Amino acid sequence: MEISVIRFIILGVISGLTKGAGVLPAGPLNAAVGGTVMFTTTLTPTENPFLTILWNVDDRPIITSLSSKNQTAPEYEGRITLFTSTGSLELRNLTLSDSGEYRVSITPQAAIGMSGSIRLEVLEPVSNVVVTVSNTDLVEFKDSVRLSCSSSGSSLSFLWLNSSSEVTASDRVQLTDGGSTLTIVSVTRYDQGPFRCHVSNPGSSATSGSILLSISYGPENVKLIISPPQEHHVEGSNIAMSCSADSRPAALFYWFLNGDNLSDTGPELTLMNIQISLTKGADVLPAGPLIEAVGRRMMFKTTLTPTENPFTSITWNVNGSNIINSSSVGNVTAPWYEGRITLFTSTGSLEVRKLALNDSGEYRVTITPQGAPEITGSIRLEVIKRNFKPVVTVSNTDLVEFNSSVRLSCSSSGLPFSFYWLNDSLKVTASDRVQLTDDGNSTLTIVNVTRYDRGPLTCRGYKPVSTHTGRLVYLSISYGPENIKLVMHPPQEHHEEGSNVYMSCVVNSKPDALFYWFLNGDKLSHTELELKLMNIQMSQSGNYSCQAFNEKTLRYETSQSSVVSVLAIPEKTSICSAGCIAGIVIACLVICGAAAGGGYYIYRKK
Ligand SMILES: *[C@@H]1O[C@H](CO)[C@@H](O)[C@H](O)[C@H]1NC(C)=O
Ligand SMILES: *[C@@H]1O[C@H](CO)[C@@H](O)[C@H](O)[C@H]1NC(C)=O
Ligand SMILES: *[C@@H]1O[C@H](CO)[C@@H](O)[C@H](O)[C@H]1NC(C)=O
Ligand SMILES: *[C@@H]1O[C@H](CO)[C@@H](O)[C@H](O)[C@H]1NC(C)=O
Ligand SMILES: *[C@@H]1O[C@H](CO)[C@@H](O)[C@H](O)[C@H]1NC(C)=O
Ligand SMILES: *[C@@H]1O[C@H](CO)[C@@H](O)[C@H](O)[C@H]1NC(C)=O
Ligand SMILES: *[C@@H]1O[C@H](CO)[C@@H](O)[C@H](O)[C@H]1NC(C)=O
Ligand SMILES: *[C@@H]1O[C@H](CO)[C@@H](O)[C@H](O)[C@H]1NC(C)=O
Ligand SMILES: *[C@@H]1O[C@H](CO)[C@@H](O)[C@H](O)[C@H]1NC(C)=O
Repeated sequence: MEISVIRFIILGVISGLTKGAGVLPAGPLNAAVGGTVMFTTTLTPTENPFLTILWNVDDRPIITSLSSKNQTAPEYEGRITLFTSTGSLELRNLTLSDSGEYRVSITPQAAIGMSGSIRLEVLEPVSNVVVTVSNTDLVEFKDSVRLSCSSSGSSLSFLWLNSSSEVTASDRVQLTDGGSTLTIVSVTRYDQGPFRCHVSNPGSSATSGSILLSISYGPENVKLIISPPQEHHVEGSNIAMSCSADSRPAALFYWFLNGDNLSDTGPELTLMNIQISLTKGADVLPAGPLIEAVGRRMMFKTTLTPTENPFTSITWNVNGSNIINSSSVGNVTAPWYEGRITLFTSTGSLEVRKLALNDSGEYRVTITPQGAPEITGSIRLEVIKRNFKPVVTVSNTDLVEFNSSVRLSCSSSGLPFSFYWLNDSLKVTASDRVQLTDDGNSTLTIVNVTRYDRGPLTCRGYKPVSTHTGRLVYLSISYGPENIKLVMHPPQEHHEEGSNVYMSCVVNSKPDALFYWFLNGDKLSHTELELKLMNIQMSQSGNYSCQAFNEKTLRYETSQSSVVSVLAIPEKTSICSAGCIAGIVIACLVICGAAAGGGYYIYRKK
């Protein structure tokens, strides 16, 4: 019996050697340090215990189990469990030195011995996966960056993730040091990540935290959007502009008007109540000089239309010294103007009261609107001494534009005076059309008046001690007719016979013009501004024109002719109209009804 057992064992060993892996699956098996591994044989559990089970590793014995006796190598005491029904072995508290080739030899009762072998790799688990980065603050196309991954564990494999996809090597992307180092050469804005390093070995894996790269780029694709999106804007309207640019970090914006840097920074610029001056940089005060007497008031009126959006600042100076400075912070008035001035913040206009001789000078305003360049203006004020009221006489106040001349004279009782002439508070200066003559400029002559000369005009007489102003003279200047236009409604050439056509004559004229209407050059009797052709007939076709006449200027103007062509309403084309067809149907119904009635009658007769 003893002999046969030994023979079986030998046979088993031989057959195990010849069959290779045999009762163990193909390896290798991987397990982590400290972990547990189960070497499971492919045998089904048997109730008849095996005669022998031998386990060894790299030819060192682990356990020898005979039916009568178990022998465990001391270093495995308490670390192993042998399952005698299958020959499987559990090995616990694994250390790195447990790696090796495990072999089992089993001798069943009354059968050929079996064996198998499998390789076990005990690995240190992956832990402490850390990524270090050379620099996270990078500039596109300029900088390169290196990310290094370190980890504890054995048999490590590295994989880099860019967001959720695996990083693959390319011209720009290098993976070195066994994949643990990722180098991105000349980064682009798309390389921001997040990058993670994923480390694994056969028994475990771990992933690092995320690394985000900050990559600066741009500005590029700078776009200016103007709303409303047109070139021309009505004075006083609002314009919103927005500037966009692809940039990281967000770009700072600077605004320029005609090359001048505006004070605004930020992606949006709103121009409220825009002024022509924003494009032209014009002087917002009229050409002077202004003239006023001692003790009176002067309004320095800017040409700006009132804005609801307060200006950023308004400053008034006279001869270079500050009068008032108004801003969101407050108003600062020079002491000697305190209580004597009013600033109109919606237009920048300034009123100065109780004028003194030394208020004469060059007045200058500087206005900073929101989101627009500075606006300036300057005008000269001459403050003169009071005197007796001069008497103003005028040759004729009823004038015809371009055809009339007017003469105004200023006189003052007895004393030798000099005179200023004022046109709506602006000092009149001599020109081709404007003559200042006689003693001390006492006569103002305006040749070939225009509609803009209507005034009020007045004179001021002064002598070294005082001044006085004469009465105001308003001139009535007739002009036109001009810009005549014939407007037709409906605005077309062809009109249906029987329709109504309205024509009106539009003209610029003072006083109102008289109107004449012409059809093919023949004067119609009508003399109103509007010509109504009700129920128009074909005979009224032709060329219409209107003429305006100004009784004051004795001028005529005739419009271009407008063609009216009256078309007949199309005739009925079918012999039998819809009504005719209805008549036939009704006739048929009458006949059929009679036939039915007849049938009924016949039936009743039967
Ligand atoms: C040998 O060990 C196995 C499992 O640990 C046990 O079932 C068996 O009874 C032991 N045999 C002897 C003789 O101690
Ligand atoms: C095996 O490990 C467990 C916990 O991991 C420990 O409590 C035990 O003492 C260890 N046994 C041996 C024999 O090393
Ligand atoms: C990261 O992913 C983005 C988006 O897919 C890609 O454009 C970029 O090139 C990637 N960078 C690297 C270094 O893989
Ligand atoms: C400055 O003066 C103007 C006009 O007098 C006034 O409307 C405005 O409220 C003042 N501003 C401040 C900050 O006092
Ligand atoms: C006034 O008008 C007439 C006629 O048009 C012209 O001959 C004359 O030169 C004009 N005078 C001035 C000063 O413009
Ligand atoms: C008359 O007016 C002219 C032009 O405005 C001016 O140069 C001149 O000094 C004035 N003469 C007098 C006496 O005021
Ligand atoms: C009066 O002022 C108006 C408006 O400024 C100007 O057009 C006109 O030519 C002036 N007339 C005279 C006579 O100064
Ligand atoms: C109307 O005037 C146009 C040119 O303006 C001319 O060709 C046409 O013959 C005129 N028609 C009549 C009816 O006078
Ligand atoms: C216009 O002037 C001319 C000559 O200068 C004169 O004959 C004509 O009557 C004037 N017209 C009017 C409407 O005053």
